[in-house]
Amino acid sequence: MKVRTEQRLLRLVLPYRRLLGFGLLTTFLASLLDGFTLVILIPVLKHLFGTAGELRTGSTQLETFVARFTEPLVSGLSPGQAAARLVVLLVVGLVLKNALSYASTQITVGVQEGLVRDLRTRVFDHLLRLDLGYFQRTRAGQLISGIITEVDQTKTVVTASLISLFQNLVVVTTTLVVLSQISFRLTLLTLACVPAMVFLLQTLLKRLRRHARARARERGEVTATITERIGAVRLIRAFGEEARESARFASQASRYRKQVVRTQRFSSLTSPLTEVFSGFLVILIIWAGSRPALIGLATPLAPEVIIVFLMAALKLTSPLKTIASYPAVMAVTLASAERVFEILDEPGTEADRPGEGEARFDREVVFHNVTFRYGGGEPVLRDVSFTLPKAKVVALVGPSGAGKSTLADLLPRFHDPVGGQITMDGVPLTRLTRRSLRACMGVVSQDTVLLNDTVHSNIAYGSPKATRVQIEAAARAANADQFIARLPHGYDTVLGERGTRLSGGQRQRIAIARALLRDPPILILDEATSALDTESERLVQQAIDRLMAERTVLVIAHRLATVRDADEIVVLEAGRIVGRGTHDQLFRAGGLYRRLYDLQFRDQESALPAEI
Ligand SMILES: Nc1ncnc2c1ncn2[C@@H]1O[C@H](COP(=O)(O)OP(=O)(O)O)[C@@H](O)[C@H]1O
Ligand SMILES: [Mg+2]
Repeated sequence: MKVRTEQRLLRLVLPYRRLLGFGLLTTFLASLLDGFTLVILIPVLKHLFGTAGELRTGSTQLETFVARFTEPLVSGLSPGQAAARLVVLLVVGLVLKNALSYASTQITVGVQEGLVRDLRTRVFDHLLRLDLGYFQRTRAGQLISGIITEVDQTKTVVTASLISLFQNLVVVTTTLVVLSQISFRLTLLTLACVPAMVFLLQTLLKRLRRHARARARERGEVTATITERIGAVRLIRAFGEEARESARFASQASRYRKQVVRTQRFSSLTSPLTEVFSGFLVILIIWAGSRPALIGLATPLAPEVIIVFLMAALKLTSPLKTIASYPAVMAVTLASAERVFEILDEPGTEADRPGEGEARFDREVVFHNVTFRYGGGEPVLRDVSFTLPKAKVVALVGPSGAGKSTLADLLPRFHDPVGGQITMDGVPLTRLTRRSLRACMGVVSQDTVLLNDTVHSNIAYGSPKATRVQIEAAARAANADQFIARLPHGYDTVLGERGTRLSGGQRQRIAIARALLRDPPILILDEATSALDTESERLVQQAIDRLMAERTVLVIAHRLATVRDADEIVVLEAGRIVGRGTHDQLFRAGGLYRRLYDLQFRDQESALPAEI
């Protein structure tokens, strides 16, 4: 599993291999220059201390080596001038090194953020294709956290794993070369301290890994609570639950805090530990450097050489620390990556399968003994068979919870039946692509979704090529033109979350205009008028009647008066068909339809005087 995750991450980096190679090259050059600036310090200091030229017996290999290259450059100059010239060289090297480091950082950021963008887009795209049930099983906040934070974490694969590891290996190598050229024994002595530090860090980081996972989970929960409660703000107000929600959130925020503090406890320890360790190292080096016998030299190291050795040795601690913590950093990255890949590995049931063709509708849609259940639950539809012929209106009625909406959802393949099948012109729906199938259908349901966009775009959603003239015609047919004209900016008024709020009836008519514009051969109306008052219902019903003309319609209605003229009425109870026929037939037969009808008729009679 772990190897697989790493491979998958690397595959994501692949498109950036050229840029990355370039980044590694600049990193490499910067490290070499870094070694250069360190080494050139020796002659600079020698000229300043006035000890140049007196290459004593016992001079280290590095001193001899550097002198051979720098002395010709400064021969004949006074010690001050020589030092100045070498300092210029040092500064040039320093500037060049930092310019390269800067470039390499920029390149790294480019690659990292490219990786993040690619992965984030993939996850988002995948989410749009997932089974609807997935969104019921998963808290939206956990998904948001996944797309934002966890994806972001995976970018460390570029810094930690590729660039930084490489960079540190180069730095360690060049530094070790410099050190061993000064004194091999002193280098060994210095390195002998490293395992102790690595061991300390490893113990710390092992715990860090565990806590980082828990932190990611808590972070997801916090995001989830915020998004859910923002969506439910009216409910919270209406029931006066503010204080309780606040307290609940506070305790969740505290849990997150605790987890962050716990995680931080271990990661913050690394820095002071290294500092103490470095201090110890400095003392050790100075002490040992002044004892030639101990480090196998004829004379003590010259002060300038000890300075350079110290600087180089201290340069080692940071890369060594990084290399030592590499497994831990990667563990955190992998934990995040696994979370992201988990989402990507959810089967995208919405994807087209081989063998699926384009839908065509000329004759009829037929339900053959259709059975359906959600997940592993009880069947919600049992053995349902009926026909929806072209250019006819079939009404579906029945008590709430009978399975009417579920049945309507099977047509655009929001779900597939678990038994029996649905055919369109004789072809099972499962052999048609969802896309082409949905292009044949328009759905208007009780809860209309408006996007945070203009009236124009809301109506044109799904018909990107529609012209303003067509949109206005659709709005007129939906009885929406008049109220749209009264909006502050007409068709350019922004609706939805942060725009103008519309009444239920107005929203409904926007949805009808949307469906009209698509002009689908099959129309599914799921209680499109149930939530409306009498006046809006009249306006919406008019619009619907226009929409239904000459079209194949499956209409689900709560108010039976609206389905009286249907060509066939199917009565559903607890997932089974318990009656079918025209209004007159069903009315005369008695049964559930008659009972529902009488119930509403009585309600309407008693309600009428009050309304007038
Ligand atoms: N997404 C779902 N997951 C599980 N059960 C569901 C889901 N949607 C609806 N149901 C159940 O299926 C049954 C039929 O619901 P539905 O089709 O909405 O009925 P209707 O539209 O006739 O009121 C109900 O018992 C309901 O609880
Ligand atoms: Mg329903």
